[in-house]
Amino acid sequence: MQSVSDFCDDTARRKLLVATTSAGALAGAATLVPFVGSLAPSEKARALGAPVEADISTLQPGTMTTVAWRGMPVFLVNRTQSMMASVVRANSMVADPSSEHSFSMRMPAYCSAQYRSRASHPNLLVVVGVCTHLGCTPTPRFIPGAQPNLPDDWPGGFLCPCHGSTYDLAGRVFKDKPAPRNLDVPRFEFISSTVVIGRDEKGEA
Ligand code: FES
Repeated sequence: MQSVSDFCDDTARRKLLVATTSAGALAGAATLVPFVGSLAPSEKARALGAPVEADISTLQPGTMTTVAWRGMPVFLVNRTQSMMASVVRANSMVADPSSEHSFSMRMPAYCSAQYRSRASHPNLLVVVGVCTHLGCTPTPRFIPGAQPNLPDDWPGGFLCPCHGSTYDLAGRVFKDKPAPRNLDVPRFEFISSTVVIGRDEKGEA
């Protein structure tokens, strides 16, 4: 089991990697462009990091849609009652049922309950569709039960096609898989029937 200090080390390494990459990119830009009038981000750069909105009024129970945010797919799943029940069934099968360890972003506190969703819309799952192993996109495998590449007691969830990591219908990784962490949950909020990804009451992510 990973200790708190190990986790801090991991977080520090991730931050160092991002900082090193960003510094390298800036150094390269300075070499190629000797005169830069302003370091203010362009409109395009701002737009790439901006929150995105998705209308979920037509998202049928048992289905999902995907939106792009910051170059990543974000899954929105309208879970049925039986899908919610499968999350409870999976509690003993997943590696980190309470999502104590985040991956690349801190999980919003309002998603810390077992369904990893907001209390106002407990059925709606919002997770970043990037496998925490090596970054492939997991595919939905919502139908429970025995089927190819999945165990006989499969409760429904997602299967990563690259190395077989599996996640439940709350985006929690199953035990003994290559992926080390649950899928990230971004900040999000609802405005009527629209979900805004990348922003909540505390501001933008
Ligand atoms: S990238 Fe998903 S299991 Fe390896």
